[in-house]
Amino acid sequence: MIFYFSGTGNSKWIAQQLAQVQQEELISIAAELQQKDNPFRYQLRNNEKIGFVFPIYSWGIPPIVLEFIRKIDLVEYHHHYLFFVCSCGDDIGLAKEMFIKSVHRKGWECQSGFSVIMPNNYVLMKGFDTDSKEVEQRKLEEAVPTVTEINDLLAKRVQNTFHCVKGKFAYVKTRLIYPLFVKYQITAKPFYATDDCIACKLCEKACPVKNIKVDGKPIWSNNCTSCLACYHICPRQAIQYGKETRGKGQYFNPNVRI
Ligand SMILES: Cc1cc2nc3c(=O)[nH]c(=O)nc-3n(C[C@H](O)[C@H](O)[C@H](O)COP(=O)(O)O)c2cc1C
Repeated sequence: MIFYFSGTGNSKWIAQQLAQVQQEELISIAAELQQKDNPFRYQLRNNEKIGFVFPIYSWGIPPIVLEFIRKIDLVEYHHHYLFFVCSCGDDIGLAKEMFIKSVHRKGWECQSGFSVIMPNNYVLMKGFDTDSKEVEQRKLEEAVPTVTEINDLLAKRVQNTFHCVKGKFAYVKTRLIYPLFVKYQITAKPFYATDDCIACKLCEKACPVKNIKVDGKPIWSNNCTSCLACYHICPRQAIQYGKETRGKGQYFNPNVRI
């Protein structure tokens, strides 16, 4: 069973590769959370692997993923093989520790974890932009053997194996900046559509949590996860976030369908 969350497709692409090779069911965290009266009970088969795949947000785990972990019940969990794979533009800080702690609280044990460097999609602050087309291409190419290697390790059910890029100042990034990001930055309020909007509804379709309704122009509700799918998918680059996104690039994983 592989649970995934993804905004611009990087994590979805990874999750798809893993599910195919490990022959595990692929489950969208966002879709599960939208189902009314969902009991959040997942019956485990003997010996199946449990994976969580998600992007890194501000050197931590997206709150929607933590919420899902808190809510779910893995029925007949008996020390099943459990792992995570996160996608990031550069580094993950102490997200590994955050993940291990969140599953530990549930009484589960994490056997392995990996980070995969993918094209960056974060553009909401000064100094942050998408990668150049060359870097984007290189990252996409290098991710292929990295994911193959992860699949090999998962097939062997490696224990206590963590291949993660922690980066510099990990403590400050995860313990100080991440909580501020969660408190103040996860909001759709600054989003707006310019007159270039053609009401194509791609933003509505791409939003993993169905937080956008297009009525002439997109209207955001208050369930935004800050995944930036709406900004990046727009064919006219009509979606902007305050002044932060002016003149910035766009990226959406080319191997994933929305
Ligand atoms: C809100 C937000 C915060 C991010 N923070 C980080 C970060 O701390 N470190 C990093 O390397 N990449 C960061 N990124 C980049 C994404 O983790 C990366 O592009 C990821 O592969 C996107 O996955 P997705 O396409 O599945 O949504 C951030 C992206 C977003 C949207």
